[in-house]
Amino acid sequence: MRKILISGASRGIGKAIALKLLKEGHSLSLGVRRSEDLINTALDPKSNNPDRFLVHTYDATDQKSSKKWVEKTVETFKKIDTIIHCAGIFKRTNLLFNDNEMTDIENLWKVNVMGPWILTKDAWKYLSVSNSSRIIVLVSMSGKRSKGNLASYSMSKFALMSLCQTMRNEGWEKGIRVTAICPGWVNTDMAKEINHFPKKEMTQKNDIASICSNLLELPNSSVPFEIALNCQLETTV
Ligand SMILES: NC(=O)c1ccc[n+]([C@@H]2O[C@H](COP(=O)([O-])OP(=O)(O)OC[C@H]3O[C@@H](n4cnc5c(N)ncnc54)[C@H](OP(=O)(O)O)[C@@H]3O)[C@@H](O)[C@H]2O)c1
Repeated sequence: MRKILISGASRGIGKAIALKLLKEGHSLSLGVRRSEDLINTALDPKSNNPDRFLVHTYDATDQKSSKKWVEKTVETFKKIDTIIHCAGIFKRTNLLFNDNEMTDIENLWKVNVMGPWILTKDAWKYLSVSNSSRIIVLVSMSGKRSKGNLASYSMSKFALMSLCQTMRNEGWEKGIRVTAICPGWVNTDMAKEINHFPKKEMTQKNDIASICSNLLELPNSSVPFEIALNCQLETTV
């Protein structure tokens, strides 16, 4: 069983992954901005075994919170061998953005790129000792091709994909395997304003949770680097 950090576990894909991996018996350390969001849910610390379940404050825009979360996890579980990066934000920004949208672009950079980078960096020395650690990153189809007017979101996800490749390069000899999961639309809050495409035909968060669970079963020699999930036909990817 693994000792897993999951960011963005309060909602959406991160929460679905946490619920599945908890049932399967892994030790989970969940990073959330407001721990009160989990009260009276299956992820409430009060209804879980404290030896294998931890909820800690984590804000991807605050570098110090990442270090504190990692340290508390190691103090509790003695090791970390898996990170699943789910915290992320979505904003539409045109190429010709307005001055007041500069903050949105900076936030996308901070949360979608620097967040996973710093968290991985803070946990690296622990990931490096197990010889079979895993890093799973929720990237996006927007990290593989740029569609429509999603300039800033896509820029952040292309950068995140590049970061995944570097993590893979630097972690390979240490047995760290990286998987970039690249979905199109997933039926979560993030896609709630998408009306041109039925929600039930989008990728479902529980299916991504199943993919993560399967990934954690695979040996170092068989972990895919990239999983592209199309819910609509795209001929280029
Ligand atoms: N849904 C899609 O269509 C889709 C498609 C492709 C890729 N993805 C990617 O998948 C990941 C998860 O998306 P989702 O669909 O689950 O989105 P979601 O339902 O909107 O959930 C986003 C999660 O990220 C957390 N988060 C946001 N800002 C944060 C910050 N500054 N620090 C820490 N946590 C923060 C949120 O926490 P709070 O509850 O505190 O806000 C929430 O737990 C994201 O990286 C997203 O880009 C999603």
